[in-house]
Amino acid sequence: MVRILSGIQPTGRFHWGNYFGAIRQYIDLQNGRETAFYFIANLHALTTIRDRERIRRNVLDAATDLLALGLDPERATLFVQSDVPEVSELSWLLMTVTPMGLLERCHAYKDKKSKGLPAGTGLFAYPVLMAADILAYDSDIVPVGEDQVQHVEVCRDIAGTFNHHYGDVLVLPKAQVLESSARVPGLDGEKMSKSYGNTIGIFEEPKALKKKIMGIKTDSRPMEEPKEPETDHLYQLYSLFAGPEQVAEMAAMYRRGGFGYGTVKKELAAIAESFFSEAHQRRRELEANPRIVQDVLDRGAATAREKAGVVLRRVQDACGLTRSV
Ligand code: ADP
Ligand code: TRP
Repeated sequence: MVRILSGIQPTGRFHWGNYFGAIRQYIDLQNGRETAFYFIANLHALTTIRDRERIRRNVLDAATDLLALGLDPERATLFVQSDVPEVSELSWLLMTVTPMGLLERCHAYKDKKSKGLPAGTGLFAYPVLMAADILAYDSDIVPVGEDQVQHVEVCRDIAGTFNHHYGDVLVLPKAQVLESSARVPGLDGEKMSKSYGNTIGIFEEPKALKKKIMGIKTDSRPMEEPKEPETDHLYQLYSLFAGPEQVAEMAAMYRRGGFGYGTVKKELAAIAESFFSEAHQRRRELEANPRIVQDVLDRGAATAREKAGVVLRRVQDACGLTRSV
């Protein structure tokens, strides 16, 4: 059975970019014939967050958000990265075959270095841990945003080198680039990202949501002027939520001109609110029963550990770490 696997870092509340660029597609993929494993990458998040309450809170929030948005634990396995210690051991074993040069070329480390910022060993070895995440479950397909494709390539390199030394032990995965993973614009028209402070949260309360949307930056062209919709970020955001007919109507209005951006913002707020209203309702139910979320994570960890244990044993065997009796 083909296995899909992906991880998402618990670095803050999820925003529209995360939803349309990743989460929605994870949820769609759970409905196919493949087995899907999704995990919350708290070990990776430790490279940027060093506050235990925040990490704990973020992991619980991420799990609750994913379940509220439709991730179905009957169809996909949801777990927390650190609940599978096998991965950390595998990470070391992979490190022993990973050349420094391979990691020096990886962008997270390289970018920090080029800015003259101090980079820790955790950040440097980040792609090896990610490779262990993928290889521990014999994953075939790794759906990721464009920014993570390099890391999946590194994972293939590491697995290839390992197999070169030890035989055919690890399954080589393939990245599957998620649709629009580079494209959801934020409040200022730049890519929506926590690091730019331009996000709109999925679980924003209606009042806060309206306020944010009303604050989206727009240009100062006169109302009458016809406008090209495709290049306008407000239109792009609206298109994420609206059906094809609504999108066509909105595009026609842009091309006619004679409208204010305020009107578009109000429509965007209304459509976004109703789009996520079911998820908001489900989230409130889960908040009232946090045990449900914990149970899902416990069951997910047990399933994931079982698989990772088998793969780790295979790797340990190949390296000569197991004693034969
Ligand atoms: P952030 O940039 O806010 O820190 P992450 O890097 O944690 O977000 O992204 C998690 C997932 O969401 C990744 O798969 C990424 O590709 C996707 N994603 C994040 N921002 C966007 C965006 N603006 N448009 C599309 N996809 C996005
Ligand atoms: N590095 C990924 C990110 O920041 C998260 C991640 C960790 C991941 N391990 C993974 C993604 C394994 C896919 C597969 O988005």
